[in-house]
Order: sequence, then C-alpha cells, then structure tokens
Amino acid sequence: MTESVAASSSQTAPLHVVVLAAGQGKRMHSRLPKVLQPVGGQAMLQHVLALAEQLHPKAIHVVYGHQGETVQQAFKDWPGTPLVWALQEQQQGTGDAVNSAMPKVPDNARVLVLYGDAPLMHLADLQALRQSPDALTILSSQVDNPFGYGRIVRDEQNTVRAIVEEKDASEEQRRITEINTGVLSADAKALRRWLSQITNDNAQGEYLLTDVVGLAVAEKASLSAIIAPDADSCLGANDRQQLAALEQQFQQRCRQQLMRQGVRFADPNSVHIRGQVCVDQDVFIDINVVLEGDIELGNDVQIGPGCVIRDSSLAAGTVVHPHSILEQTRTTGACQIGPFARLRPGSELSAGCKVGNFVEMKKSRLGLGSKVSHLSYIGDSVVGSHVNIGAGTITCNYDGVNKHKTTIEDGAFIGSNTALVAPVTVGENGLVGAGSIITQDVPENQLAVARSRQRNISRRKRSS
Ligand code: UD1
Ligand code: CA
Repeated sequence: MTESVAASSSQTAPLHVVVLAAGQGKRMHSRLPKVLQPVGGQAMLQHVLALAEQLHPKAIHVVYGHQGETVQQAFKDWPGTPLVWALQEQQQGTGDAVNSAMPKVPDNARVLVLYGDAPLMHLADLQALRQSPDALTILSSQVDNPFGYGRIVRDEQNTVRAIVEEKDASEEQRRITEINTGVLSADAKALRRWLSQITNDNAQGEYLLTDVVGLAVAEKASLSAIIAPDADSCLGANDRQQLAALEQQFQQRCRQQLMRQGVRFADPNSVHIRGQVCVDQDVFIDINVVLEGDIELGNDVQIGPGCVIRDSSLAAGTVVHPHSILEQTRTTGACQIGPFARLRPGSELSAGCKVGNFVEMKKSRLGLGSKVSHLSYIGDSVVGSHVNIGAGTITCNYDGVNKHKTTIEDGAFIGSNTALVAPVTVGENGLVGAGSIITQDVPENQLAVARSRQRNISRRKRSS
C-alpha cells in the first residue's frame, strides 16, 4: 500500500473512540472511581467524553470495570453519541482494556484511544492524531518532570522505537523528558493484531498498551509521534496532587477565556468556575467568587467578594454585593442584591429591585423597582411593582403540610416585622402596619393593622 493510499483511507475510515475508564485509581485513596473525580465540577470522564463527542465519531466505546455500575450510572443520561460500554472484568492493564473494546470495533475503523483520567486534552491535537496517515500515531509531550510517565525512546535518527514505563525504565531512559500522553490513534486491524501479541512480562505484570509501539516498530509499520504543543493539556491525574494540578490548569483556562471575552477580575486566581459561564462586556468579578452550572452575566454585571452563584442569569447592570448566594435566580434588569442575600431557586427580580442584607427568597417574583431591604423571608410569593417590604417581614408559606402563596400587588407597603400568613393577598397600594400578623386579605388602598393595641400603664412608685 502506498503512503498516499494509506493516508486517504485512515482519514475517511470511520472513527471509533475508545475511552479507558476501568481503573480503580488506587493512588487517589477514594471510594469514588478515579474517572468520576471532578475537575471544574464535572467528572474527568465527562470532560473526556465531551471532547470525544466533538470529533463526531461513529462510536464512543467506554471501557469500564472497577465500580463499573457507578460509572455507568453517572452517564445514563448522556445526551450525545450513544455510549458503547465494554466491560473489562479484571483490570489487567491498558492494553487489555483497549482489547475489551475491540470486538465491537470493525477492521476498517480508525481507533482513537483516550484515557479517562486525562481530561484537558486539546481538540486540535486529537484531530491531528485522527488525520494521521500512519498505521500508529502516538501523542507525546515534553515535560520538566517526567516521573511516573511512560518515556518515548527514540533512536539516533530520532525515530520512535518504543515506550518504556517508569517501572521498566533504565536509569538512562528515566532521564528522557519526552513522555507518553497515553493518547494514540491506530488502524483497527493492525491494533487488534498488536494487542493480541502483547504480554504481561513487565514490572507491573500487566498488559500495557504502550507495548504496541515496539510491536509496530518490529513490523516496520508506519509509525509517528505528534508532540503536543501544550504539555499541560496532557496531564493525567493518578493522585490527589495531580488532580489539584489539573484543577488549577482547568481554572486558569476558564479565567483566561473569560478575560478574553471582557471580564475583569480583581484576582483571577481566587475565582473558581464549575460550569459554563456566558458573559457580555465589562463584567467585574471580585475575589473568592464561585460560579457553578450555567451562568449568564450581562454587560456591567458586578459580583462582590465571597459570592457563590449557581445556574443563574443576571441582566446588564445587576450588582451582587459581598457574600451573597444565588441559585437558579434571574434578574431581568439592573438590580441590587446583598450583601448577605440568599436567593434560592425560582427567585426572579425585575429592573430596579433591591434585595438587601439577610434576605432570603425562594420561588418568588419581584416586580419593577420593588424593595426588600433587610432581614426578610419571601417564599412562594408574587410581588408586584414598586412594593416596599419592611425589615423583618416573613411570608409564612408553610402550614406544616402544604406550601401556600402570598400575593402583594403593585404599590403596596408592608410595615416592618409583619408576618403574612399564606395564602393571603395584599391589594394594590395596600398598607400593612408594622408588627402585624396578616391572616386575611388586605383590600386595595386600605390600611391593615393586626396587632394588639398598646396600653400605657402608670408605673407604681418604688418604695425607697
Ligand atoms: C499511562 C501510560 C503511560 C502514560 C500515562 C499518561 C500505560 C501502560 N501507561 O500510565 O505511558 O505516560 O498513562 O497519563 O498505558 N485503565 C483501565 N484498565 C486497566 C488499567 C487502566 O481501564 O486495566 C484505565 C484507567 O482507568 C485510566 C487509564 O486507563 O483511565 C490509564 O491508566 P493508569 O493506570 O492511570 O496509567 P498510568 O500509570 O497513568
Ligand atoms: Ca494515569
């Protein structure tokens, strides 16, 4: 077969991605299987599968084994290409793992092997591997500290001859700083043949995928190595330290991307992102902020120090003051939130709203310009526009069995320390006297006072 024929066939061959996720990850000392350890709030395997998805493969095979059910369960709702699960009964090494997936890989396929514990790979590198015309192409990288990785052994002509694992390497080989990232692509038929030839005659007593390199060399098959331009993207996590290193790497990437989109950070290193953040321009994020899930931040949104924001969308001009916690919250115009506000799922604020310190909200909507400035609980409520809710107002939405709704119509004013016992409605421009316990609807334009009258009683003279 000529080089060019090989090239065109490997490029058009159906792509089968094989993701290795059967290992226990002993070095993590965790009850969670290694590939479910999180980076940026998502399992490492999730990142790898999302990356695989972007290659539009014919199939994604996931080799599972240790705590296999837990791993499968975590991806039961995987929305992408249906996953082909390949059980590796005993974890006898990465070569054996790939072999477990091969029965469902056709001979004409191009196979791309990814490791479930290396979640930061760049798509471009994987595409380069996929496009390679060679029977076998490995992805290597140059690192300062190669400890623990397989080393790429080259001859005087600089041609790759083998991969040698740390435990099998000689003193001299251990000094090699070009390492195996674990990712490789190969023609399925050849790979199947090499996998059947590998043995467990090595320091770990395992069937090592890396041995296919030596076998390809022995066969004089076409073989190449692509050196990843960004070595950090190839880091794998075997222990907690490496996991923390990956996390740092991932966070740095997220922040850099946000800065490219116009976000200003007071201290980028102190902000953590665990999800997808979409931003308009001139967003400012102060120190020690955590952003989780799906977040949208409009122009000029400001987030104060110490805030935690999850699955929320904040309209242009919204300011979140220090130490506020927002979950499934939406502002539809510029609002002021916090400091120390807690907005729970279903909080919706219109333009000009203010939710001040020590206010908790849940499943409640505030209309235009309404204010809850201090120390209140507003739950299961619909609040109209230009409503003022005084300090210490509580919607008593729960009777011990059911939740009930509170409605406060436009222009109403609720005096401080009021308990609104739901279900209850305060009509338009209704006024509630401070300290009231409101158990009946307040009609519009009326004042309700529901508290015991004050009595002034003269004090007895003290006997001296
Ligand atoms: C592996 C490579 C090493 C490379 C490094 C890069 C081999 C033999 N070594 O070493 O050359 O430098 O990755 O990070 O491949 N797995 C299974 N079944 C098994 C064993 C492992 O599915 O029987 C899975 C693991 O879950 C993991 C991946 O394969 O996702 C890699 O295994 P791991 O034990 O982490 O290999 P390393 O020692 O890191
Ligand atoms: Ca590893």
